[in-house]
Amino acid sequence: MRNLTEANLSEAVIASMSGAKNARFKEIMTSLIKHLHGFIREVNLTEAEWLAGIQFLTAVGQKCDDKRQEFILLSDTLGATTMKDIINNRKPPGVTEYTILGPFYRSDAPELPLMGNIAGDIPGEPAVVTGRVLAPDGSPIPNAMLDVWQSDAEGFYDLQMPNIAGTALRGIFHTNAAGEYIFRTIRPSFYPIPHDGPVGQMLIAMGRHPYRPAHIHFIISADGYQSVTTELFVSGDPYLDSDAVFGVRESLIVPFVPNDSKAEAERFNVSAPFYTVDYDFVLEPA
Ligand code: BEZ
Ligand code: FE
Repeated sequence: MRNLTEANLSEAVIASMSGAKNARFKEIMTSLIKHLHGFIREVNLTEAEWLAGIQFLTAVGQKCDDKRQEFILLSDTLGATTMKDIINNRKPPGVTEYTILGPFYRSDAPELPLMGNIAGDIPGEPAVVTGRVLAPDGSPIPNAMLDVWQSDAEGFYDLQMPNIAGTALRGIFHTNAAGEYIFRTIRPSFYPIPHDGPVGQMLIAMGRHPYRPAHIHFIISADGYQSVTTELFVSGDPYLDSDAVFGVRESLIVPFVPNDSKAEAERFNVSAPFYTVDYDFVLEPA
């Protein structure tokens, strides 16, 4: 420990953990130290750059409170969240892909009957979302639960709306005996992730924008199946290929099909013109 050099420092720091009781913790810290030291050497980190990094991480921490988690935003925008999601949700082909949960989930969405409208009186272009929840062999899953949430036509979630009592643009639905679901909503908009903090500054320095393409979030669960957290993305959205948090998957992009039939609108209890969206989710057996 006394003749530390560029060549043996990492080994010495790792060896200093010989008393660590938790083997997994030790494994993670060993790898972290190796990569951190490797990174410092690779970029020849200067004193000023090291300090700027410390100040940035300090600002990220200071931006956090019970409503804002700037460290998760940092993880999201660096692709760390999605890398963690991908390795923890490897699924066979044909099963609905997992994607990022995001900070706007809340567990108190109201239970609504099929055909219920999650938008209430929030203005926007009406959309009817339909489909089935299926097993990989194509058989329907009755009574599957869909927990749905989305932003409004301006890109705001209820948690960001100043004058909302209770919830908005969220709901819990259950599939019928044929595994079908249907609900009414409004077409969501693309929106910027919270970018008034150090992560927003980092995105500017990286030459990036803070936008996510328009999407509807879902958590789908059913007895005997693995639940999946996912999103449906509006095809044609300008940000599909540059999502600020790397959540888009080709298999989750769906057309919002315009429909101006008054008769069809009446059947769905929406005003014309409206959109229809049709998507079947496939769950992996538990
Ligand atoms: C979202 O889709 O709600 C979201 C995901 C990551 C960061 C910010 C928002
Ligand atoms: Fe979102």
